[in-house]
Amino acid sequence: MQSTVRRVLFVCLGNICRSPAAEGVFRAGASQVGLEGQIDSAGTSDWHVGAPPYAQMQTAARQRGYDIGNLRARQFQRVDFDRFDLIIAMDADNLSDIEQVRPQGNETAVRLFLDFAPDTDLTDLPDPYYTLDFETALDLVERASQGLLAEII
Ligand code: 4NP
Repeated sequence: MQSTVRRVLFVCLGNICRSPAAEGVFRAGASQVGLEGQIDSAGTSDWHVGAPPYAQMQTAARQRGYDIGNLRARQFQRVDFDRFDLIIAMDADNLSDIEQVRPQGNETAVRLFLDFAPDTDLTDLPDPYYTLDFETALDLVERASQGLLAEII
């Protein structure tokens, strides 16, 4: 990955569970290493637009030192392809939904988040909205975030 990556967008389905967690964890890691840039998250659906992250995810994240309470859900838009250098999907469905609206000629990289996580065979980040396993999800988010940071700094 080029070191010119400075604008990173994390995308899941609802933008209330996985991608806001990824945004918060990556923001903290980026700040620690002095990476300056734009970090955001969005959902492929419009189901929760304007809503804060899922309460249980907020609590689990806060226990690890990440305050994501001020984030608000928004829907992924076609124009995000122009606004970001790297778009990170939480699962294969998200990736496919994102690719469906890629503007012609746009070459922005879209990658699966867990591609950056060492030591896991998983490709999709399990969604704690359904699994209720917030700790496993945050473990994976932290590892993928570290891996991503290592590639772009
Ligand atoms: P997320 O999880 O994509 O990680 O934000 C979900 C949140 C809400 C719903 C599905 C997934 N929902 O069906 O409302």
